[in-house]
Amino acid sequence: MSDEILSLIYTFSRKFKDPKSNLSFEPKNKNFSAFINKGNVNIALQISNNDMKFYDDMSRLLKQNIKQIPGVLSVNIITTAEKDQIKEEKKYKIDVKNIIAIASGKGGVGKSTFAVNLSVALKSLGLKVGILDADIYGPSIPRMMGISKKPEMNKNKKLIPIENFGLKCMSIGFILEPESPTIWRGPMIIKALEQMFNGVEWGSLDYLIIDLPPGTGDAQLSLAQNSKLTGSIIISTPQQVALTDARKGINMFKKVDVKILGIVENMSYFICDNCDQTHYIFSKDGAKNEAEKNKIPFLGDIPIDKKMRQQSDDGRPCCIDDPEGDMSKKFIEIAKNINSSATTTHS
Ligand SMILES: Nc1ncnc2c1ncn2[C@@H]1O[C@H](COP(=O)(O)OP(=O)(O)OP(=O)(O)O)[C@@H](O)[C@H]1O
Ligand SMILES: [Mg+2]
Repeated sequence: MSDEILSLIYTFSRKFKDPKSNLSFEPKNKNFSAFINKGNVNIALQISNNDMKFYDDMSRLLKQNIKQIPGVLSVNIITTAEKDQIKEEKKYKIDVKNIIAIASGKGGVGKSTFAVNLSVALKSLGLKVGILDADIYGPSIPRMMGISKKPEMNKNKKLIPIENFGLKCMSIGFILEPESPTIWRGPMIIKALEQMFNGVEWGSLDYLIIDLPPGTGDAQLSLAQNSKLTGSIIISTPQQVALTDARKGINMFKKVDVKILGIVENMSYFICDNCDQTHYIFSKDGAKNEAEKNKIPFLGDIPIDKKMRQQSDDGRPCCIDDPEGDMSKKFIEIAKNINSSATTTHS
């Protein structure tokens, strides 16, 4: 369904020419990208702010027409600044050296579990770490971090992140009404995300790890547009259905110029308690091969582990509960890799 909508969008958009470059808006035009998430359409237009006036009429027409496509629930046009302007125009202000978004195409592949354990692992390297739960559809970081209270406001009307295990934690779930998130529209999500940065007393951090909702929607695009993302990490399970969606995520980040720091393969295999054999339940090496194909670093594989699921449910991340265990070692290895490449980039 999404693919059909996408091809209809491009059928219409290619009739338009970019007023500045004179290129038509088709898939190979890097300045124009369309993404769909459950019927909500996001169009990213990469243009200079000074040129906005040339695009007003076209944006309006495009929006009106895309809205008519059956199955489209909303249309949001996001303009992203040209590369050389990006630094000055970031709206989300925070004193942090690195912001890393944890993303996936498909839901339920282990983003939140990874985000939590990567954060704890980075903290164990002596770094100051914050974790931001930006999952508008199902915020799960407070539970996985063993947090049950809500944040308070300081005298500057900023929310104070809740601390546990030495990490600062904020969740978009703390400020959302528990209404159905499917009725959320772009502008509301963008506003809530801005509040997560500018309305929170983060202090100074080495890392802010962001747990994203699945897919390629408003949250992903506005973060790419408004925050200084160091890069994203894509989590995927090894089977084709997950990889097809992961590919969409990879393409989206490429289009909006967010560096992909690497792919992590979660639920790679299962070692049976009884027979001690390794079972490749979701196929073998799928995400690893995908990383190679896309020339993206492969950051590591994480097996299916019953204890880790239990630790998540209990709000004691495995890197806290069993810091010397094999699973924790996997996360620490990945954290060291990421930190050394971040340090190299900064120096
Ligand atoms: N390697 C693993 N071994 C065992 N259980 C896991 C593993 N990774 C994740 N899980 C469990 O799978 C479930 C889904 O994981 P998680 O919530 O981290 O995924 P997600 O990608 O964040 O999902 P969503 O898209 O809904 O936000 C959780 O119950 C989690 O504890
Ligand atoms: Mg999650």
